[in-house]
Amino acid sequence: MSGLRADSGISIARIWPYSADLRAGDKAVGAEPGDLRRCSLFASALSATAILHAQSLVEDMSGCRKAKKARAKDTHDRGPDWYKDAVIYQLHVRAFYDSNNDGVGDFCGLAEKLDYIKDLGVNAIWLLPFYESPLRDDGYDISDYKAINPAYGTLDDFRDFVEAAHARDIRIITELVVNHSSDQHPWFERARNAPPGSPERDYYVWSETGDEFEKARIIFLDSEVSNWSWDPVAKAYYWHRFYACQPDLNFDNPLVIREIKDLLKFWLDLGVDGFRLDAVPYLVERDGTNSENLRETHSVLKLIRSEVERLRPDCVLLAEANQPPESTLSYFGKGDECQMAFHFPLMPRLFIALAQEDREPIVDIIEQTRALPDACQWALFLRNHDELTLEMVTEEERKYLWHVYATHRRLRINLGIRRRLATLLNGDRRRIELMNSLLFSLNGSPVIYYGDEIGMGDNPFLGDRDGVRTPMQWSADRNAGFSCADYVDLYLPPIEHRFFAYDIVNVDEQRKMRSSLLNWMRWIIKVRRSHPAFARGEITFLAPANKKVLAYLRSYEGETLLCVINLSETAQAAELDLAEWAGCVPVEMFGGCAFPAIREEPYTITLPGREFLWLKLFPADQVDPARGVPHEAMDRPDLPAADKPVPPRPREKEGGRSDNPASNRK
Ligand code: GLC
Repeated sequence: MSGLRADSGISIARIWPYSADLRAGDKAVGAEPGDLRRCSLFASALSATAILHAQSLVEDMSGCRKAKKARAKDTHDRGPDWYKDAVIYQLHVRAFYDSNNDGVGDFCGLAEKLDYIKDLGVNAIWLLPFYESPLRDDGYDISDYKAINPAYGTLDDFRDFVEAAHARDIRIITELVVNHSSDQHPWFERARNAPPGSPERDYYVWSETGDEFEKARIIFLDSEVSNWSWDPVAKAYYWHRFYACQPDLNFDNPLVIREIKDLLKFWLDLGVDGFRLDAVPYLVERDGTNSENLRETHSVLKLIRSEVERLRPDCVLLAEANQPPESTLSYFGKGDECQMAFHFPLMPRLFIALAQEDREPIVDIIEQTRALPDACQWALFLRNHDELTLEMVTEEERKYLWHVYATHRRLRINLGIRRRLATLLNGDRRRIELMNSLLFSLNGSPVIYYGDEIGMGDNPFLGDRDGVRTPMQWSADRNAGFSCADYVDLYLPPIEHRFFAYDIVNVDEQRKMRSSLLNWMRWIIKVRRSHPAFARGEITFLAPANKKVLAYLRSYEGETLLCVINLSETAQAAELDLAEWAGCVPVEMFGGCAFPAIREEPYTITLPGREFLWLKLFPADQVDPARGVPHEAMDRPDLPAADKPVPPRPREKEGGRSDNPASNRK
C-alpha cells in the first residue's frame, strides 16, 4: 500500500501497527516525571510507540537510576567489544542545534538534543571534526588538535556533553585527523621556517622537485592538479593527498608519532570512547608505490592501537579506508589494528543492487569480506558527509551509477555523487525503507547520517560537499528550528526546496505523524537492537532462483533470523531452501505474526515490490498457532501485552484441524 504524502514529499509504503500520536506520549510524561509505571498506565490506551517514547523521556528526566535499569536490559551492550552492538549516529556539531543563536551549532545545543538521539535508539555518536580550524575542508584542516573551535563551545562544554551522553548510555567517537593538518597549524608554520633536514621541518613531507611519489593518485580531482604544492617560505614543495591547505604529516618522524600518542591521551582523558581514523591509507608514502596501504602505514596503526589499548582497552578505532576489499580488510590487521572499518566495498554495491534489481553485487562483496578477526566488526553506512564515493567501482559501474542516481553534472563531485539518501532515492519511501532494512540487518554496525532518519534533502547549489551538510531540520519555524539567528548568519542555509523543504520535512511534524519515516526508523532500530543476532550473528545467504530476491540468515547463540528482501520494483516470489529448519515457525519480527511452518520442501515467500520481511525462526512447540509467540520470546520487553498483536483465532475445522498454517506442523 503506497501513496504520496503531499506534506512530506515521501511516499508511505507501510502503515505499521504500533505507532501513535507521540504528542500523547509527551503528555504522559508531563503527568508524572519519574514514574514509569504510572506513565505506562496513563498511556495504556495508546499504542506501543507512544509508550516507548514516554518511557524514554521519563528515563531522561529521572536520570541515571532509570537509565541503569534500561542498561541492564541490553545485555550485549557492555564489555570491551561494545561497538559490535552499536548503532551509530553521525553528526556535525555545527549542523545540529544552535544554543546561542549565532547561526552555528554548538556543544550546548547538541547536549540539549541528546534526548532526541537517545529516543531514536542509537547508542553511539560519531562527531565530525570540531577542533580549531580555518574550515577550508569543514574542519578536516585542523590548526589546533587540542582546542575546540570557539564557535562550537569550550573544552568544558565538550566535557559536559560527553558526560551527558554517557549518562544516557551513549558512547562518543571523535575524529583523529592525523594524515594531515591545516597549513595554519603552528607545526607547519614552524616547519616551513626551520632548516631543511631539521626535526621541526620534518614534521611534514618536503621535496626540492615535487617529482616523488608520482604513482599516487589525486583524490580531490575537481580541485587539485598535483599532490605537491610549492611553499614560498620553505622554498620547497610539500606533500598533500587532499587540498593544498592540508599538508601531510610525516610519519617517518618519531616526533610526529609522539604528538599523536599525546593527542590520544588528551581526548581519552576527556572521556572519548573511540576514534575514526580519517584518511588512514595515506599515512606513509614511498616512491615506486601508489602510497596507499603500505606496510609502514600498518605499523603506525599497530602503534596507535597498542597505545589506546594501554590507555583504554575499550576504546574503538574505526578506519576510514576507501579501498578495494582486500586492502580494506587489511585495516583489521590480525586483530591488532582497527576493531572497525567502514564497509566501503559494500556501500556502492547496495545502490547497484537496488538499481539493477539483482542481489549478486551484495552477495558477492559480502562473501569476499566476511573473514574478520574475532573482535572486529564492519561499520555499515548508506550515506555520510562526503560524496557517495565511486572511486573503487569499475568505470562501467561508475557511469551506470551516475546515470541512475546523478543525471545532472551538478550532482557529482570528484568521482562521486553529492546527494543525501532521500534525494538519491527520489524521496521514495519504499526504497528508503528497503535500503535501511539492509543497513540494519546485514553483518556490521549501522551508521546513520544525521537527518537521514527524517528523509532530509540536499542542496546541490552549495559548494564542495556542503549540500549534504545543511542544518538539521527540527521544525517548520524560522531557520528550520535550528537557530534563531538572522538568516544571513547561518553557517549554511537550511533546505527550502520543494518536497524536502524544512517546513515539510522536519522532526516536529514527524514526531506527530504516526507513519512518519522518523517513527519507522525508531521502530526498526528498536527491533534490531533487541536481537543480538543482527549485531553479532553469522550471515548465511540463501540462493533462490529468483535473483531479485535477497535472502539471508543471521544466527547467534541459538537465535536465527531470516531476512528476505525484494529488490525489484514489482512483486516477486521466491522459493527458499530452508530444509535445515524444517519444523520451525517463522514469526514476523515487527508484528509477531506466525507464518506457515517450514517443511523439507522449498518455502515460498511472496513480497510486493521493494518490500522486505524479517522473520525469527522458532521451534514449533514455542509458538501458539492462535497467538503467535509469547511476547518475551520476541525480546520486546517494552511492549505491553495489551498492544501485542493477536492473530485472529483459527477457525476449528472438522477433525479439529486448524486453518492457521502455522499450526499445520509436522
Ligand atoms: C576524509 C573526510 C573528508 C575530508 C578528507 C580530508 O575523507 O571524510 O571529508 O575532506 O578526509 O581530510
